[in-house]
Formats: sequence, structure tokens, C-alpha cells
Amino acid sequence: MTARGDLSVTALYTCETWGWGNLDGAELLVSPEGRRVFDATNAVLALARPFQRDARSLKHALLHRHVILDHLVRASGARRVLELAAGLSRRGAAFTVDPDLIYTEVDLAPVLARKRALLSRTDAGRRVLARENLRLVDRDVVTEPLGDLVEPGEPLVILAEGLLVYLVPDAQRALFRAARALLARAGGGTLAFDLVPACEAPPPGAAGRALGWMMRRFTGGRTFEHDARTRDDLVAELHSAGFDRVETIEPAAVAAHWDLPFPDTPTRQLVFAAHVST
Ligand SMILES: C[S@@+](CC[C@H](N)C(=O)[O-])C[C@H]1O[C@@H](n2cnc3c(N)ncnc32)[C@H](O)[C@@H]1O
Repeated sequence: MTARGDLSVTALYTCETWGWGNLDGAELLVSPEGRRVFDATNAVLALARPFQRDARSLKHALLHRHVILDHLVRASGARRVLELAAGLSRRGAAFTVDPDLIYTEVDLAPVLARKRALLSRTDAGRRVLARENLRLVDRDVVTEPLGDLVEPGEPLVILAEGLLVYLVPDAQRALFRAARALLARAGGGTLAFDLVPACEAPPPGAAGRALGWMMRRFTGGRTFEHDARTRDDLVAELHSAGFDRVETIEPAAVAAHWDLPFPDTPTRQLVFAAHVST
């Protein structure tokens, strides 16, 4: 582990969110333990909500970002996906229904051991695990090289969902450079990730403090990283890491065209799609 604390509990929360949102494949990964984490976190947020200015729902925001990332993968037409910090996400299970798409998920060994165990509970889950086009790779995406997971000459989408917010700026920049090198090796493609700059979020308030408290309690001390960079700063950093074109995508702007669930629910979410030309 590269940083203090264990983030696997956050993967339980997001996994249950995909189940709550009825996303395909999530039914194979939800669990009573995950449901307890989901319910406890939502209860704490609900208690804090009346005291927060401009409160937004966490589960709706996560669902929006997840479906935006699904859309970006589909729209790219890429036949190779490398998902960093995939956790208990259902995306790999859902997308590998297409046998021509090769999907590689990377996360820390204990998280992927849990994922394998969850999938092993059912026939449908075991069939997913047996797919040759789905690879689960135990690796630290911050400290370990990933070049062997990329096929030269096959355009690639790299996803990093729910990861950047836990990395300090230097680690984020290192990840941008590493992803750029992987995409160059692949012959082009896209890095897509979510990150709401701290300056775009309201001051933490009661709900933010409550979430921070839940995070520290569940993760053994680890919580969100905050810094002063704006979205333009992040776009500039992606350009200086070598990306040719960078898009920033907010749910409200795409909700109707991209068929987001709960299109009228306002959420605070920002997805970056950084492209390397083929
Ligand atoms: C908030 S969860 C997101 C999981 C999944 N991407 C999703 O959105 O459902 C964060 C994930 O990052 C993983 N993670 C954190 N640091 C990591 C690292 N250095 N290498 C690999 N995975 C890491 C955790 O194990 C956890 O599964």
C-alpha cells in the first residue's frame, strides 16, 4: 500500500451504489457487508444534510460519474480497457459480455481477492470470472509498472474512477505521465478519471466533516486530499504530461444526451477525458 490507511471500504460503498442504481453486473458484487457500509454512510450524511449549504447527494453523484465513464468507454470504440483501482466495480463484468473487448482491472490484492470471492458466490459470477477477456491483476497502480498490461498498437481506454481524490498532487501528476506513456505504447487512446477541484466544492460544512469522519473511521486514517489547483490547472497539467486534447465533462451538460439516470438531480461531479491521438 502506498499510503497510510485502507481504502477498500470505499469500494464497498461504490459497489453498493452501482447496485442501488440497478447497473448491470452490480447484482453479482453487492453484499450484506457492503449494504451496511452504504446504509451507515448515507445515514450520517442525512443527519448532516440540514446543516449544509448547497447539499448534494453522494450516491447520485457517484452514479452520474460511473455512467459517464461507461459512456466514454463505449463512445471510444476501443477494444482494450485498463481500469486502475477498479475495486468492486461492475463495469468489467458488464463490458466483457462482448468477447472482442479485453478488459483488465487492477487493484490491490486484498480488494481483488474479495472481488473474486464475491463473484464466486453465484453461477453467473463464476462465468464472469472464467471469461478469457477479463483479467483481474493484483498490483499497486501508484508504485508498480503497468506496461506489460498494454498491447502495442491496440487503442486503449484507461479509467481511474474514485482514485485521484486520494492521491497528493505529485502522485496525480506521476499517474498522468505514466498513463500518457501507456497510451503512447498502445498507439493512442484516452485516460478518463473523476476529480472535483477543492475550489469548486463548498466549504466542508457539516456533511463534509461527517464524510471525512466516516472516511477516517472506516479507512484507518485516510481521507480526501485537498489542494488549490483549479480545473484549468489540471487541464494544463494533462497537456504538459503530453495529452493532445482534454475534455471536462459535468453531469448536467450531458445528462439528457447520454441517458444518465436521475437526469434532473443536480450533482457535483467532474470527469476529465484526456486523449492521445492515434
Ligand atoms: C473509491 S474506491 C473506487 C473503486 C472503483 N473504481 C469504483 O469506482 O467503484 C477506491 C479504490 O482504489 C483502490 N486503490 C487505492 N490506492 C490504490 C493503489 N495504489 N493501487 C491500486 N488500487 C488502489 C482501493 O483499493 C479501492 O478499491
